[in-house]
Amino acid sequence: MSRLVFVLNGPNLNLLGKRQPHIYGHETLADVERDCRALAAELGLELRFHQSNREYEIIDWIHEARETAGGIVINPAAFTHTSVAILDALNTFDAPVIEIHISNVHKREEFRHHSFVSGRADGVIAGFGTQGYQLALRRVARLIDEKAK
Ligand code: DQA
Repeated sequence: MSRLVFVLNGPNLNLLGKRQPHIYGHETLADVERDCRALAAELGLELRFHQSNREYEIIDWIHEARETAGGIVINPAAFTHTSVAILDALNTFDAPVIEIHISNVHKREEFRHHSFVSGRADGVIAGFGTQGYQLALRRVARLIDEKAK
């Protein structure tokens, strides 16, 4: 089982730290990436960390992961609530998928309560702030380790 993990981030997450900090906090996506890389090194994972505002790019990365990766951590952002195409792409991926949201989407507007991605995810993390990425990586590492046994 590959120890390569893709961490994929959807639209507007490039503005993390500037965007509605009362909801998403003050950390930037670069801070999140730095912390993920440090933890990945500790866990013996190799990381690809990407963000895009374009749905097709996220789909292309999932296709790439399909050929190479042992797990995906994905914050699809607004595409969570709209994208059958991302769900379909994830359904072609045969290894652990963890969905993460920085905010607690269930405490927010009703349109955020439904996730297409949750229909495929092996686990969902929401409302733990950017710490959720660390929790998701730990879970993926555990699932990869268990599969390797
Ligand atoms: C988000 C929640 C989504 O509803 C929203 O569209 C985002 C970010 C989160 O991380 O809390 O862009 O995925």
